[in-house]
Amino acid sequence: MKNSENCEQVDLDGFKRVCPIKNLSEQNGKRFMVSDVEIAVFLVNGKVYALNNICPHQHTALIYDGFIEDGYVICPAHGWMFNLETGKMPLNRKGLESYPTLICNENVYVKVEKKEPKW
Ligand code: FES
Repeated sequence: MKNSENCEQVDLDGFKRVCPIKNLSEQNGKRFMVSDVEIAVFLVNGKVYALNNICPHQHTALIYDGFIEDGYVICPAHGWMFNLETGKMPLNRKGLESYPTLICNENVYVKVEKKEPKW
């Protein structure tokens, strides 16, 4: 996550504004549509993370509602865990797409590159 007071010094190419940072609360995810992709955005210890919101297990759109623990979000449906930074599952197993985030002028931006799901 990048943090900048001055957007002119930041390359916003490809980043989309999702919400003001004040709309996020610590440990509580929110879901957004960005570039036709449903994402889950989290604020944890002052850092912003963005992951795909669709769990690869049974394709529920509940990642945003997951419990946060030790750098992971836990899917509320059956407990699969995904690293907030990388989207990977424990033991480096493939999990969710993760997306770059930045904060600029008190707004949260996310860069989502659409990929076809490999289910
Ligand atoms: S749907 Fe997420 S763990 Fe089953």
